[in-house]
Amino acid sequence: MTLPAAHSAAATGGFPRVRHRRLRTTAGVRRMVRETRLSPDQLILPLFAVPGEGVHQPVQALPGVARMSRDGIVRTAREALRLGVPAVLLFGVPDHKDPEASGAHEPGGVVQAAVAALKDALPDLVVITDVCLCAYTDHGHCGVLVDGHVHNDRSLELISRTAVSHAEAGADVVAPSDMMDGRVGAIRDALDAEGHETVAVMSYAAKYASAFYGPFREAAGSAPGMGDRKGYQMDPANGREAVREVAADVAEGADMVMVKPAATYLDVVRRVREHTDLPLAAYHTSGEYSMIKAAAERGWLDERQAALETLTAIARAGADNLITYYATDAARWIQEDLR
Ligand code: PBG
Ligand code: ZN
Repeated sequence: MTLPAAHSAAATGGFPRVRHRRLRTTAGVRRMVRETRLSPDQLILPLFAVPGEGVHQPVQALPGVARMSRDGIVRTAREALRLGVPAVLLFGVPDHKDPEASGAHEPGGVVQAAVAALKDALPDLVVITDVCLCAYTDHGHCGVLVDGHVHNDRSLELISRTAVSHAEAGADVVAPSDMMDGRVGAIRDALDAEGHETVAVMSYAAKYASAFYGPFREAAGSAPGMGDRKGYQMDPANGREAVREVAADVAEGADMVMVKPAATYLDVVRRVREHTDLPLAAYHTSGEYSMIKAAAERGWLDERQAALETLTAIARAGADNLITYYATDAARWIQEDLR
């Protein structure tokens, strides 16, 4: 006979002695026994940088998000930082594209200039840069094409060079999102060779070929001109494979790993959590954000509750950091709820 554990409901005879609702009676009790607490410290705000000065272009499919020149980027990051958001994730939207993504690693390129402006104005802000080629290639793929196919090994050199150029501009963390094999090791080697051994790598380790990137591609102008990304991003049907992808990136020297998207991949977040002690980020993507926005605009959902519930669920699944277009709003809401 197995004895019931001392704390179990069976040990005390169950209902009516055991009443789960006792710990739900008041806001104070609920707050005291809450298992998952969101903090602004966990949040990372994505930003889209464009060339120029005074440029502010709202993104239709991402209500509340705009592409901005570096003055606007600094203003937006300052407000996020003031509310407790420690980090931003920078994307570049260049005005020039070519087959070799030469704009991706230009010393004065759009991301490099924005990084320099951010580090200058807000030295305490953690500046993370997305490292990819898709916004800079005229074909819109995340690597270089050879005979119409994205060539893994030839893309590594350009991706590494891009990461080094971001480090040179002052990035604290580089985040490769291309899903080429071997990019984390290649980037680590290139950074170390150039004296950037203190720059961290946050790898998009388990990144799926997802429909939820739709609004982002409008923001970044990075939709593939032909074909799709299924040859390099993961099949949404695969969970075990995420563990292999993460293990490979960890072995290659990743400092932090990421699962993307987040809300429809909570099982993946949990699996990865159980397989690595590294800090784990989850990306609440553009599509996930816009779904809540669209429903809220129609009055079908309460935006604040839906957004905070979603972010809490991602943290509950095991994510340490949440990359979200809601970062600034969420930080404000979290602080209001503490008062
Ligand atoms: C670039 C990149 C994408 C996202 C982040 N980095 C788009 C893609 O892979 O097509 C998606 C972010 C989002 O949807 O919010 N490789
Ligand atoms: Zn890409």
